Amino acid sequence: MINQDFLQTLATANGVSNLELDVLVLAMNGDSTTAIAQKLKISEDAVRKRLSEVYRKFKIPGNGPVKLTKLQQLLVSQYQQYLAQNSSDSPSSRQQDINPYQIWSGAPDVSDFYGRTEELATLDQWIFSDRCRIVALLGMGGIGKTYLSVKLAKQIQEQFEYIIWQSLHHSPSIKDVLANVITVLSYPQKIDLPEALDQRVSLLINYLREHHCLLVLDAVEIVLDSSAAFWRYNNELEGYGILLRRLGEEQHQSCLLMTSIEKPREIALLESSTGFVRSLEVKGLKPEAAKQILQSKGLTGEQQWSELIQTYRGNPLALKIVATTIQDVFSSNVNEFLKYEFLVVSDMFREILDWQFKRLSNPEKEIMYYLAKENNLVSVQNLQQALQQLITTSELVMALESLGWRSLLEKVQSHNEDTSETLFSLQPVVKNYVNKLMALPRKENRHE
Ligand SMILES: Nc1ncnc2c1ncn2[C@@H]1O[C@H](COP(=O)(O)OP(=O)(O)O)[C@@H](O)[C@H]1O
Ligand SMILES: [Mg+2]
Repeated sequence: MINQDFLQTLATANGVSNLELDVLVLAMNGDSTTAIAQKLKISEDAVRKRLSEVYRKFKIPGNGPVKLTKLQQLLVSQYQQYLAQNSSDSPSSRQQDINPYQIWSGAPDVSDFYGRTEELATLDQWIFSDRCRIVALLGMGGIGKTYLSVKLAKQIQEQFEYIIWQSLHHSPSIKDVLANVITVLSYPQKIDLPEALDQRVSLLINYLREHHCLLVLDAVEIVLDSSAAFWRYNNELEGYGILLRRLGEEQHQSCLLMTSIEKPREIALLESSTGFVRSLEVKGLKPEAAKQILQSKGLTGEQQWSELIQTYRGNPLALKIVATTIQDVFSSNVNEFLKYEFLVVSDMFREILDWQFKRLSNPEKEIMYYLAKENNLVSVQNLQQALQQLITTSELVMALESLGWRSLLEKVQSHNEDTSETLFSLQPVVKNYVNKLMALPRKENRHE
């Protein structure tokens, strides 16, 4: 049986209200909807509504009564994990005499993780040797930021008192996130949460000073509002900027690890290669690791794998998707697939790119349209000449910088005799997307 205090903490950490918790407790005891309605003196409809909220908050998929079973399994397994950690005889917990407490809401299972040894070593060093207060993992959709954050957190979990892994996919309000985190960190104490955002952040920072915590915020791009030329937050979500700034500037012994497609303004302002705030640009998998993905999909035609991997820039999500197409349509043979010169840009990618494209300013869009048509690498000067009727030089430079922050550009340094300049291009999947966009009637689809 699950301890009530534990259930309460877990419920709060997942944003479940007390009213919803009352229904959950009775449902877990096996009471029917009718019985619950009678006991709590509410309608059966209200019971169903509260339960469905609970399922939603715990991210239980599916339909019907199976959901309750699934939720029960989830709660029991989290409780067992908690008990195991707290009674663990492992040397590290004895030695440090701590109660590692962990929340992994929405974290994927990373048992099929390949490669990334260098990134993991760098991140380990930043977090432990260099005591970074914020580490941002940045890169395009599907490149493996979320996976890397979970793998890293699992790998270093023993060295923290608390690990709280929180996805922002459902754009929770900053106040709710802070409330959840503080509830976990203050457990089993019951504290009065201050209403004001600044005070909540201060309270959190107090806990982060007292304890060694790893806080992971996944998919931070969701709470960034950059439809304007420069980064702003949605009103509702503005507090995330305050949180990032204060966690980066103030002293504490914890670390915020975050993932995002776009670089938040606060990170751009605070980061330096030797400071307490750093960002790692997550690139595609190295060929060896990418090959393991293709191998796990049972593909053949190994001589051509490198070409396939290069086309998709080692993006693991893109490779998994294209591998499935090759399995289904080309008898798993990469050679057969490559005979047809086309790119697989799945709906999943199109959605990510649609989302990204809608956020671009006009100068950014013009640059993307131009780069999509070009087959060569392009210099700032080329761009300036080509686009001078459309955008000013300062708009061009600002837009190039922000496109970089949005993980949309490929850059290479060219070294001539005594000069070095940056050349820009788009990777094939992005190029293909933009060209298709341009081929569509302007009004409907070019987000103008
Ligand atoms: N290191 C890796 N090894 C194997 N598969 C990976 C790895 N990184 C990512 N993937 C695969 O790619 C998918 C996308 O990765 P994810 O971390 O969700 O990308 P992002 O967060 O950057 O959008 C994952 O669901 C997983 O299947
Ligand atoms: Mg992700």
